[in-house]
Amino acid sequence: MGGSCAQRRRAGRRQVLFPLLLPLFYPALCEPIRYSIPEELAKGSVVGNLAKDLGLSVRDVSARKLRVSAEKLHFGVDSESGDLLVKDRIDREQICKERRRCELQLEAVVENPLNIFHIIVVIEDVNDHAPRFRKDEINLEISESVSPGMGTILESAEDPDISMNSLSKYQLSPNEYFSLVVKDNPDGGKYPELVLQKTLDRETQSTHHLVLTALDGGDPPQSGTAQIRILVIDANDNPPVFSQDVYRVSLREEVPAGTSVLRVRATDQDEGVNSEITYSFLGVADKTQHVFSLDSTTGNIITHQPLDFEEVERYTMNVEAKDRGSLSTQCKVIIDVLDANDNNPEIIIASLSDQISEDSPLGIVVALFKTRDRDSGENGEVRCSLSTEVPFKIHSSSNYYYKLVTDGALDREQTMEYNITITATDRGTPPLSSSKTITLHITDVNDNAPVFQQSAYLVHVPENNQPGASIAQVSASDPDFGPNGRVSYSIVASGLEPQDLLSYVSVNAQSGVVFAQRAFDHEQLRTFELTLQACDQGSPALSANVSLRVLVGDRNDNAPRVLYPALGPDGSALFDMVPRAAEPGYLVTKVVAMDADSGHNAWLSYHVLQASEPGLFSLGQRTGEVRMVRALGDRDLVRHRLLVAVRDGGQPPLSATATLYLVFADSLQEVLPDLSDRPAPSDPQAELQFYLVVALALISVLFLLAVILAIALRLRQSFSPTARGCFESVFCSKSEPVVPPNYSEGTLPFAYNLCVPGDQTKPEFNFLTYVEHCPATQDNLNKDSSSVLLASILTPSVETDKKTFKQVRI
Ligand SMILES: *[C@@H]1O[C@H](CO)[C@@H](O)[C@H](O)[C@H]1NC(C)=O
Ligand SMILES: *[C@@H]1O[C@H](CO)[C@@H](O)[C@H](O)[C@H]1NC(C)=O
Repeated sequence: MGGSCAQRRRAGRRQVLFPLLLPLFYPALCEPIRYSIPEELAKGSVVGNLAKDLGLSVRDVSARKLRVSAEKLHFGVDSESGDLLVKDRIDREQICKERRRCELQLEAVVENPLNIFHIIVVIEDVNDHAPRFRKDEINLEISESVSPGMGTILESAEDPDISMNSLSKYQLSPNEYFSLVVKDNPDGGKYPELVLQKTLDRETQSTHHLVLTALDGGDPPQSGTAQIRILVIDANDNPPVFSQDVYRVSLREEVPAGTSVLRVRATDQDEGVNSEITYSFLGVADKTQHVFSLDSTTGNIITHQPLDFEEVERYTMNVEAKDRGSLSTQCKVIIDVLDANDNNPEIIIASLSDQISEDSPLGIVVALFKTRDRDSGENGEVRCSLSTEVPFKIHSSSNYYYKLVTDGALDREQTMEYNITITATDRGTPPLSSSKTITLHITDVNDNAPVFQQSAYLVHVPENNQPGASIAQVSASDPDFGPNGRVSYSIVASGLEPQDLLSYVSVNAQSGVVFAQRAFDHEQLRTFELTLQACDQGSPALSANVSLRVLVGDRNDNAPRVLYPALGPDGSALFDMVPRAAEPGYLVTKVVAMDADSGHNAWLSYHVLQASEPGLFSLGQRTGEVRMVRALGDRDLVRHRLLVAVRDGGQPPLSATATLYLVFADSLQEVLPDLSDRPAPSDPQAELQFYLVVALALISVLFLLAVILAIALRLRQSFSPTARGCFESVFCSKSEPVVPPNYSEGTLPFAYNLCVPGDQTKPEFNFLTYVEHCPATQDNLNKDSSSVLLASILTPSVETDKKTFKQVRI
């Protein structure tokens, strides 16, 4: 055994500790053989000569099969030299972790004889690890509001090496904000702490980059680094800032509600919520707040309701911008409202007379008014005008005051009232205007006389009218008003005798109806004229005259009157003597009758009612002439009687009868004896009747002449001018008998051959002249005995005419 211990002594070439001790203890204790090697020796490195240290010879190594055994075999024995060799990587940190003393125990085994030796290999640390941070990057967030001095513990670095080789210090990249303090852990080890040296400002630098270096104590030292990224967290350290201190805009007042006025804008250098700004009005009157609204997020100011320059010309508001962190700033917003022409001018009537007399002179003040326009400048300058053509004008008096005065003649009858429209227009663009209408009534003055509807009135009234019947109505109008236009009627003059007037006609003062006061008689009064007056009740009253002509029409109210044959004055009948030798056609006599009426009512016809010897005489139906039809025969009676009816043409006709006594005799003596025994009838009225008949006949002739003349005038118009002057021509005798219209058969009672003087245009006749100037009538006696009759009627010597008819009073 001693031999093996001696072997070991030889082999401890590299042993630092044991070579001296081994010979001492080995024989006694057989102390384990110790080797000490640094870690991480390369494979094959010699730890020591195990054979020698065991006292074995080189030969023994293989002969006794020296070998080592262990749980994990890091070493091997070189079979030739007996050196203990590193066979595997030896990492102290792996094998011993953090143990300070790191020993590997193994046994060396030899056979022949079998012997076991303990070997301890001490592994010494080598600085083979650099300090390492667990993370390469350390992210920190530090609020900028943090005050200097604050420390932040950083993660320690690790170095598996031990003692000197382990972590010894930390270093921080140089910077002005942070420093590093290394502190000892209570359980050993060191940790770094980052200490803020200076207040951070995110707005200046929002991130900081630091490098933390950990160093170990090896030689040379090894190091590990970690990047420290420091994000400066914002603190609300900046108030919002407006882009302008004062915002000023002008805004036309007519902008509609909802118009964007301006936008205030504030910025905040902070970030995140600290830069979220809300805007609000600050200390703004409620009134203004109703007018404008402020969008709290955008800062947009919009009008909330229409503006009115006339109410507020300028709005001044304070707007506050506030961030979430309650920092705030204010700015001023000034909004000038610009006037727009948004107010119509007003017309204010100060005084107004609503009526004016139509005779007012020019320049009378009708109304006083003023204008007002709430706009300013040109928008408030007002001009006034009248919109329609009226006889008025506007006088501008003083400031905004105007007078409306008359400027023309007024006539109530033409225009009763004026609607005067005053228009006030301002000078804005576009101009605004308003108007006011005043109604002015024109009061009446009695300046119009009544006016009759017709310039003259003509009425036909049939005779025998009802007394009290209305025969006409006159009417006058007066355009004046009230009493000035109220017309009353009266008769102011007439062609009648003043005392007769009242008994003839009257007029209703109100209605203008003219009444007949009695029955008129055509035969008595054919026409009369009245002057009627219409008079208004003005003061002074005005009046107008008109003439009313009343024509009294004829009615068949008069029966024909037989003028011939008439009874003698004593009532005796008269005979007509007929010569015995009278030829057929001989004009025996003529029945003469008159009718006081006129026209058809006086158009007579003659009819034989009874004849003693029918067929002996004929009676002209229209002429009334009795002529012989045949000569008197021997056997015929000498005396004859004819009953004749005279009828007029009225409806119904009226008639009269006459009896003719005809005696055939050649001399009066022949007749008289016959008659002597008869009582001579005396007819005292016969003479009177005769004159009456003459008068009536005259009237009838006058009428007929008028008719004839009218027809003649028409004829004359159709003849050539050579027809003028019948006295030179024979027109008179040759002219056709003139007959009234509707005449179809027979002749008129008096068929006249008329001549009309060419220069005479009015139906005024001088019958005497007529007779004198128409000598031809004498020649026509036999042809037309009526001419003679006419002459006899017209001439004053009626007596002589009686003889013509051989009238015999018996
Ligand atoms: C005036 O105006 C009134 C009321 O509008 C109306 O009744 C009248 O007919 C008008 N007169 C004239 C002359 O236009
Ligand atoms: C109307 O007639 C009366 C009587 O003839 C006369 O006095 C008056 O002046 C006349 N009036 C007019 C308006 O002609």
